Amino acid sequence: MYKRRSFVFGLGVLVGAGASIITEKIKQPMADMWQKIEVARRDFTVVGEQPLRERAQAKGLIYGAASSYQELAKNVDLANRFAAECGILVPVNSMKWQELRPGPKTFDFNQGDWLAKFASERGMQLRGHTLIWHKALPDWFEANVNKQNAEQVMLEHIATVAGHYAGKMQSWDVVNEAIFPANGRSDGLRRTPWLEFLGPEYIDLAFQAAAQADPQALLVYNDHRLDYDTPEMEGRRVAVLKLLEGLKSRKTPVQALGIQGHLFANEMPFKPKKLRQFLSDVASLGLKIMITELDVTDRMLPGDIAVRDRLVAGVYQDYLDVVLDEPAVIGVLNWGLSDRYTWIAGVRPRDDGMAVRPLPLDQDFQRKLAWQAIARAFDNAPSR
Ligand code: G3I
Repeated sequence: MYKRRSFVFGLGVLVGAGASIITEKIKQPMADMWQKIEVARRDFTVVGEQPLRERAQAKGLIYGAASSYQELAKNVDLANRFAAECGILVPVNSMKWQELRPGPKTFDFNQGDWLAKFASERGMQLRGHTLIWHKALPDWFEANVNKQNAEQVMLEHIATVAGHYAGKMQSWDVVNEAIFPANGRSDGLRRTPWLEFLGPEYIDLAFQAAAQADPQALLVYNDHRLDYDTPEMEGRRVAVLKLLEGLKSRKTPVQALGIQGHLFANEMPFKPKKLRQFLSDVASLGLKIMITELDVTDRMLPGDIAVRDRLVAGVYQDYLDVVLDEPAVIGVLNWGLSDRYTWIAGVRPRDDGMAVRPLPLDQDFQRKLAWQAIARAFDNAPSR
């Protein structure tokens, strides 16, 4: 009896394994075929040569990107292309604690000031990123900040930094990535030094201090992984809404949600209705919305550049068609403008070792299909 049962069991395992190999064998070519159909059916036609900043402005929107002193100061070509395409600049790192704060009592505004001057001279707006975050903290932070002095350290930082740029900022990411439901708190907040030292009120405190230091800047709560139809991201959307509702109920001066928009091609299900509902829910709180760090990770796409660029452009098209349909959305920024400078190259590289292609301009600052998809989205967007 035992022999017969183990034989039947073994047969079952074989059939099961065979079936899964067969489905894999069929599934993959089907997926590739679908990608080719997907690629072929897209229309990325754009009328005219106007830059993205003009196409956005024509609809009452702002378009721009992140860059750095290192990229813009040493590369005139990029500087010119950047100013041509972007109506707003956000420093990648120059306004984070790590770059701004050489010591517990010192500030270094050199790079931030250079970027602010670059933006102003080129007719671009400026946005600040980020006043309070759990990352990019300077080496001295851990040994020098504690429960007793954290509030004073935080308030001094915000007053000094937001005060230094007061009147020059279109917006500030006042608090970045404070939500992390996986930490298990009922409020969905991320366990950070700020939360540990000051409790959940640190977020209210930060916004109040920023409003006092720069009453003209739009004050933004910025977060990521809010875009796809997965249990993790649904949990994050719920937690972000809960946070924003709480802030608004306490009359905390938060004025906008920043959705980073680090997108993935072919990795997670994208459900337009889900994202659209989330945008409506945020807008119903009286908040504006900005897409603050848009790019597309292409590691799961075929290596062929023509196919890959079309699929990446399709991700941009599908996402921006949803996002720009929401009137509360006032701006879209890429996290970088050219594939030559993208954080994705180092953090989400391709298995085949090919250069990643997440952004609107290629390595030589030439427009790609992604640029056309963004241009087309602005051209088709309802006016604000
Ligand atoms: O400048 C130092 C250099 O002197 C040193 O030799 C080198 C090696 O340690 O580090 C350099 O600093 C690095 C900095 O980028 C500039 O290249 C930091 O270590 C590195 O952590 C930092 O990474 C940045 C990261 O945020 C953390 O601040 C990325 O460039 C930046 O693209 C990324 O951007 C974040 C947003 O702020 C928030 N949303 C997600 C997004 C992507 O992770």
